[in-house]
Amino acid sequence: MAQSSVEDAVLSYLQTHEEIPNSEEFAVSEQLDHTELLNVIKSLNGFGYVEAKDIKKETWVLTDEGSKYANSSSPEVQVFEAVPLEGIRQDQLEAKMDKQVFSIGKNFALKNKWLSLSKEGNVPFYRRMVEQVQDIIKEQLLAAKNGKDIQNVDALKKRTLIKRQTWKGFSVRKGPNYAPQRSKPATDLTRDLLQKGNWDNVEFKDYNFSALGQPLECGHLHPLLKVRAQICKIFLEMGYEEMPTNNFVESSFWNFDTLFQPQQHPARDSHDTFFLKVPATTQRLPEDYLERVKTMHEVGGHESIGYGYDWKRDEAEKNLLRTHTTAVSTRMLHALAQGEFTPKKYFSIDRVFRNEAVDRTHLAEFHQIEGLICDRGLTLGDLMGVLNEFFQRLGMKKLRFKPAYNPYTEPSMEIFSYFDMFNKWVEVGNSGMIRPEVLLPMGLPKDVSVIAWGLSLERPTMILYGIDNIRDLFGHK
Ligand code: PHE
Repeated sequence: MAQSSVEDAVLSYLQTHEEIPNSEEFAVSEQLDHTELLNVIKSLNGFGYVEAKDIKKETWVLTDEGSKYANSSSPEVQVFEAVPLEGIRQDQLEAKMDKQVFSIGKNFALKNKWLSLSKEGNVPFYRRMVEQVQDIIKEQLLAAKNGKDIQNVDALKKRTLIKRQTWKGFSVRKGPNYAPQRSKPATDLTRDLLQKGNWDNVEFKDYNFSALGQPLECGHLHPLLKVRAQICKIFLEMGYEEMPTNNFVESSFWNFDTLFQPQQHPARDSHDTFFLKVPATTQRLPEDYLERVKTMHEVGGHESIGYGYDWKRDEAEKNLLRTHTTAVSTRMLHALAQGEFTPKKYFSIDRVFRNEAVDRTHLAEFHQIEGLICDRGLTLGDLMGVLNEFFQRLGMKKLRFKPAYNPYTEPSMEIFSYFDMFNKWVEVGNSGMIRPEVLLPMGLPKDVSVIAWGLSLERPTMILYGIDNIRDLFGHK
């Protein structure tokens, strides 16, 4: 039956009657589905058309076994009736009936003293002890089935012939907003209502002030942050520790000199590097280490011949915006050299600055990803293996290495990866084995090597997100 006619049945009944005392009886007399009726009552109650009160009733219902006996007769009666007046052998009796009915029925029939069991020869033999019996179990089951009160509840429950069931229904009266017909309140004041002029008589739906609004499209994570988190996870999974990179301002000493970058190197020119005006120079440098760096640049040592120029402290003191996070790596390696040597794996992802012309692939500031391993006996093969592992996890499977030059690494390799979508090899990073000219002045043991690599965070992000202009990724747009 359609919902609206169920609704009509309830509302029109209440027009002439005080109350529907029991929804189920009402459903039976009006030929409605009770579950559907309950839903309609709940809805009418919600809008105040009716006032519904819960009524709950606990009733007994028959289990499957119980209703089987209610339809035929209890097992004890079935067994009793199967015993003829002259008696019967157990095997013959058993053969006449259902096994389960026999085994349950015979016990109760014996207990009730309806039957006796004796031995005839050597076989068990049943005889009637009474002429007739009354099937009280069946009577009780039928009573329970018809919703009548029953006496020996415990016995029936114990034999799992009945079980408890809660019945739920409503008693219903007129509610504060009762009307014989439900009216659909308007949700909006429309142009139509205004033109027809009947807005005055229309019932409007109340505002639901606790309704949740539409979810707003806002607060997305920036792609650079997402890729940074992804790369950070890769490093952590590979057992690397993150380096503290929270200083954008660095001295030329840590950014260049410690990395065996000669003071006349073009990268140290203000065309490539942002130097600070205030404070223009650094206050403190580690003096003994500074002496060893100076010596390495001027005359070399440990089989190196150095650069053979006059190393100037003034130049090393100049403050700048760090041009690479390798400045942090040298600080970390220097610190590591101060204690007993332990192998380390370090990484960092942070911002660096270069005084470059801005175009579609270059900005004056970007993020550098840097990884390094410091241990005894490392080789170029280890570096290639680590790079393969790292880039593989980033989704770059095909790698090639090309010889390159950095003042602080030897040998040095640029890393290229093949991209199917561009059909070409793209440069994705730079790497190398840190020179002894860098490591030995720090005080690291002679047999310790460092393999290191760096790449920009922007490049893989642009590739992963299909962004072809870096200014779309980073900056005011
Ligand atoms: N510092 C290098 C750069 O700016 C990256 C690099 C790091 C290269 C470590 C080799 C070893 O590109």
